[in-house]
Amino acid sequence: METAFQEGKEEVISAWYMDDSEEDQRLPHHRNPKQFVSLDKLSELGILSWRLDSDNYENDESLKKIREARGYSYVDICDVCPEKLPNYEVKIKNFFEEHLHTDEEIRYCLEGSGYFDVRDQNEQWIRIAVKKGGMIVLPAGMYHRFTLDTDNYIKAMRLFVGEPIWTPYNRPHDHLPARKEYLDSLLKKGEGQPVEAN
Ligand SMILES: [Fe+2]
Repeated sequence: METAFQEGKEEVISAWYMDDSEEDQRLPHHRNPKQFVSLDKLSELGILSWRLDSDNYENDESLKKIREARGYSYVDICDVCPEKLPNYEVKIKNFFEEHLHTDEEIRYCLEGSGYFDVRDQNEQWIRIAVKKGGMIVLPAGMYHRFTLDTDNYIKAMRLFVGEPIWTPYNRPHDHLPARKEYLDSLLKKGEGQPVEAN
């Protein structure tokens, strides 16, 4: 989608390889030296992303077009911060358990920011920082986890095709058809070549 907003996508969605430290999950966890990951690399992993006008989400034609094209009939908005989310500490812990879903996970950051962590083809963690105006789609069957950053706040739109199913399947759930389909899609993108060693 060609809009002025799309051009500055890297300002609201950026990604990097994570270090192995056990420190606070809300810290950036950059490697030393920093090792950034391009949006093209994310798209190789099946992740879609857009930059949208989050101040105008109720009347945004670009959002409308994405919803129509991808069948995202359902939306709701959720605030994640200690004051607004019941059972905050438990939920934050659950979000950070590595899991997958049998459908896409679609999140549009309207305010604040957060980290979506995913694995690359070699199982390395990539941290995707999404800020106000960034929207991402994690494909069905992709292992991931979520955490707030040190600002401790995100207001996110959740979208879904039809009736939402938010069930997380904690790793390992490799036998699920959605997982197999995701791995097959990665192989097809790599033209059937075995994954290179890192
Ligand atoms: Fe999830």
